[in-house]
Amino acid sequence: MINFMLIETRDLQKIYKMEDVEVPALRNISFSIKKGEFVSIMGPSGSGKSTLMHVIGCLDKPTSGVIKVGGQDTVNLGENELAKLRNKKIGFVFQSFNLLPRATALANVELPMVYAGVGIKERTKKAKEALEAVGLGGRLYHRPTQLSGGQQQRVAIARALVNEPAIILADEPTGNLDTKAGAEVMAILQKLHDDEKRTVILVTHELYVAEHAERIIQLLDGKIVADRIVPNRKKAREILTEIAEKEENNEYS
Ligand SMILES: Nc1ncnc2c1ncn2[C@@H]1O[C@H](COP(=O)(O)OP(=O)(O)O)[C@@H](O)[C@H]1O
Ligand SMILES: [Mg+2]
Repeated sequence: MINFMLIETRDLQKIYKMEDVEVPALRNISFSIKKGEFVSIMGPSGSGKSTLMHVIGCLDKPTSGVIKVGGQDTVNLGENELAKLRNKKIGFVFQSFNLLPRATALANVELPMVYAGVGIKERTKKAKEALEAVGLGGRLYHRPTQLSGGQQQRVAIARALVNEPAIILADEPTGNLDTKAGAEVMAILQKLHDDEKRTVILVTHELYVAEHAERIIQLLDGKIVADRIVPNRKKAREILTEIAEKEENNEYS
């Protein structure tokens, strides 16, 4: 049978064991995500969003249950195989950017291609193109400290994209940014989905960020409490842009 689901989870459980207490972080999580979908995972702090991202992204294993990425069951893969799968299939974007502080924007974006064994000429060309695509063609040799938060996050997005991953996982990508920079990052993620048909999974606790997606999966205490379609995605974009403009004009202070 042909498998149309890019991500499939069934009865996922994650229990963190601390000394003598067990912390259940994911409880009976089951859902599927199709290729090309744009999905937000929402929920309050501590509801299990990052844990779920780590499990989907093969950075961590569930305590029990099934997780398939691209039809492949990842629970029984070894560390090397998981690292390969991550490098090829998944592009990560984190709240704190996670860039190498001493490396230029260009070198940061080249890094996943170094691991993937891409030659230097090809690597540099692709990294430049990726940085141009996120509006940073004029910042190739800047280091993270010489860039604004929004620019650093755009470098991280370029880095997430260079190996042409099947899935982009973004964990609170706007969490450390002001509204305007956040809106710019969201515009890029939206374009990746709308124009390039990429699969994007976004974690956020802000409604107007979440509603940029087509679908919202809501978590509470490690459980899915809602899984719904966003009725009017365009509206979220308009609201976020409006808030950014008001913030810039100091209408809130
Ligand atoms: N490495 C860990 N060790 C122990 N407990 C953890 C660990 N990571 C997360 N938790 C716990 O699991 C629950 C879910 O955390 P997390 O997935 O980070 O939530 P969120 O991203 O929604 O804020 C929380 O109760 C948290 O304290
Ligand atoms: Mg988190």
